[in-house]
Amino acid sequence: MKKWVFATNNQHKMVEAKQILGSFAEIVSLNIIDFYDDIEETADSFEGNALIKAKTVFDKTGFPCFADDSGLCVLALNGRPGVKSARYANELGPVDHSLNNQKLLNELQSQSDRSAFFVTVICAYGFSENPIYFRGEVHGQIATDLSGAEGFGYDPLFIPQGYDKTFAELGAIIKNSMSHRANALNKMKLHFS
Ligand code: IMP
Repeated sequence: MKKWVFATNNQHKMVEAKQILGSFAEIVSLNIIDFYDDIEETADSFEGNALIKAKTVFDKTGFPCFADDSGLCVLALNGRPGVKSARYANELGPVDHSLNNQKLLNELQSQSDRSAFFVTVICAYGFSENPIYFRGEVHGQIATDLSGAEGFGYDPLFIPQGYDKTFAELGAIIKNSMSHRANALNKMKLHFS
């Protein structure tokens, strides 16, 4: 089985990637290759931030790797929080998912259009001369209340198209069959098959 480094410290993303890639590749986390640095995401695009993460890890360790940058784009908010999804409510402090969800509910209070989509861009770095990008999206609506306990981030507010429950209620098997991350990872899988 292939052994691939996933350049993330987000354990939720790691678990999802392992489930989605299954027996296609063994996913190795950053601590296994002794990488403990914090990587600053300073770009203003998903592609830019995915590249920063993957290139930083490759340059320091020499291991080909892939990184994911993701976020939630809300149409009524002109695409916000977008690349700033992690620190939407707390720009300089630690990531706080419950503050983020509360801010989103407040900003959408008087909005009838609650359409939104999640994006993941994966950058695979060190496998060939140039970085390779894979983009995945999943479209849906922002709920009016938080529901469900599974997943992470905005999952308790995101209702994917065709369902009447949030990702946090639907659980991992359904989320991983259609999510932005699954779509991007499946494109990567196809590319390297
Ligand atoms: P990053 O890719 O680590 O910068 O993550 C950006 C932020 O987007 C996360 O902190 C979450 O708030 C949000 N996010 C990304 N993917 C998901 C997901 O699958 N579910 C819910 N929120 C997500």
